Amino acid sequence: MLPSSLREKDGLARPGLYLRFKTRRYLVLAVIAFAVVTLFGRAFLAWFGTVPRVFRDAYPPPLPPPPAITSPLPPLYENYHHTELSLPQHHWDQRRPSKDEKFLFVAGHSRGCGWGNAMQELLLNAYMAYKAGRSLVFANYTWNDNGSPYSEYNGKKIPSLIPYSTIIQGPIVGAPFPYGDPTPLAVHRDYFDHVCPKKLTFIREDISEIIDFKNSAKEIIDGWHDKLADVDEPCVQTAPNSGQIFNFDVFGDPRAMIDIWPELSASPILTHFGWSPLVELAFDTNRDMFLPSLSIAPYLTSLPYTTNADRYAVIPGLMALHLRRGDFAGHCEHLAGYPAEYNAFSSFPDLPDPFVPPRGPDADENRAAFRAHCYPTLEQIVTRVRELRRTHAARGLRKLYIMTNADEGFLRELREALWRDQDWQMISSSRDLVLNWEQRHVAQAVDMLVGQRAQVFVGNGWSTLTSNVVMMRMANRIRPDSTRFW
Ligand SMILES: *[C@@H]1O[C@H](CO)[C@@H](O)[C@H](O)[C@H]1NC(C)=O
Repeated sequence: MLPSSLREKDGLARPGLYLRFKTRRYLVLAVIAFAVVTLFGRAFLAWFGTVPRVFRDAYPPPLPPPPAITSPLPPLYENYHHTELSLPQHHWDQRRPSKDEKFLFVAGHSRGCGWGNAMQELLLNAYMAYKAGRSLVFANYTWNDNGSPYSEYNGKKIPSLIPYSTIIQGPIVGAPFPYGDPTPLAVHRDYFDHVCPKKLTFIREDISEIIDFKNSAKEIIDGWHDKLADVDEPCVQTAPNSGQIFNFDVFGDPRAMIDIWPELSASPILTHFGWSPLVELAFDTNRDMFLPSLSIAPYLTSLPYTTNADRYAVIPGLMALHLRRGDFAGHCEHLAGYPAEYNAFSSFPDLPDPFVPPRGPDADENRAAFRAHCYPTLEQIVTRVRELRRTHAARGLRKLYIMTNADEGFLRELREALWRDQDWQMISSSRDLVLNWEQRHVAQAVDMLVGQRAQVFVGNGWSTLTSNVVMMRMANRIRPDSTRFW
C-alpha cells in the first residue's frame, strides 16, 4: 500500500498523511455501505413490488403519467348561438307571429359545401327575402345536419354547424337595416319554428315555371317576389327537399348576375354587409402582414360599424394572391373538360381579364391553356405577378399576402422565387396567420377580408372564395382594373 510503504521508507510517521489515509478508509467504507443499502433496497423493491407502507410517507408521491396529447375538439360556438337567439326581434313569449311579422325561410339551402358557396347563396337568399319584404330566416352554416356536433373533413374533425354570426355581421344575421328601411329584421330559424308550427311551403318549380332565363338571378328573384306578393300567410318556406333556389347552374353562369347587380349592390344586404368581430379580430391581430409598416390606423374591432365600403377601404401597398391548390389539382382537370367559364361573380364586364375558354384544334394545348388560369405552375405565378406589378393599378406595392391552401413545401419555393424576382417588403401567407381556436375554423373569411381590401387582388375565376372577394370589391367600387385573375 502506497502510504505505509512511504512511511517505512522515511522511517517516520507523517501525521498529515496518516490522517488522510484514515479519512480515505472511511470514505471507502461509506461508498460500500451506500452500494449495499441501494442494492438491498432495490432487491427488496423488486421482491415486494412496492415501498412498504411504513416507509412510503417518507418518499415523494409518484408523479402521474403525462397526459396523452390529443387535439382538442373543434369549437361549437355556443355563445354565438345564444346571442343570436336573444336578438330583440325574437318575441319568445308569443306562440304565433304577430300582425307585422312575415317570414321567408329557404329550407333547401346547401349543405356540405365550402364557405364560399354557402356565402354567395346566403347573400342571394337574403336579398330575395329583402325584395319580398319578409324577414329572412337564417339558420347555421351547415356542413351536416344529421344531429352530430362534429363531422370529418380531410381526416380532421370540424364543427357540423357554425352560427353565421361567427363569420359575418349585418342585417343578414339580424342587425337593423339602415335608418328608414322598413324591411322586417332577420330572425333565427329556432324562433321561426317556435312561432310557426305550420308553414306554407313552395317548391322551386312553382317559380322556375314562370321565368324564361332560368339562370338569371334577377328573374328568379322577381319570380319569387311576384309569387309571394299576394301571400298573406306569415310562415313561408321553400320545400326542404327541393334544393337550393340559387344553385351552381346560377353561380356558374357568367351571365347570371349581370342584370341583378345594380340593385343587389345598392341594397343593404351588400352595403351593410360586415365580417364578424371574430374575423375582424383575426385581421387586427395579424395586421402587420397587410397594413403599411408602422401603421397607426385604429384597430377594426375598435371602430363602430358604418358601411361595408367605409369599413373595408383599400389597403395601399398590399397585393393579395388567391392560390387555390389541393383538391383543385383534380377539379381543374374536371373543369377543363367542359370547359367551364368563370363563376358568375367573377364575370363582371368591367373586369380586365375576361376568360375565353380555349377551343383550339389540339385538346392537350387547350387543357394546358386552361390550367395556366386554374392551377398555374410556380413559374407561371411568378411571371404573372411580375406582369401585374407593372400595371398602373399596382403602383406602390410593398407587401404581398398569399391566400392559399397550398402545402408548406410549395409555398416555401414560391415565396423564395417571388422574393428573388421582385422587391417586396414582406411576403406572407394564410399559413402565417396567428389564429385562436375559434378563428381557425372560419379562417377562409379572414382571407376574404384581406383579399377584399388589397390594392391589387389576383384570384382564381372558378373559386367561390375568389368570386366573393370580387363581388365585395365591385360592391365597394374598388377600381375594376385592380381585380385580376391568373
Ligand atoms: C345551429 O347550431 C347550434 C349549435 O351551434 C345548435 O344548437 C342549433 O340547434 C342549430 N340550429 C339549427 C336551426 O340548425
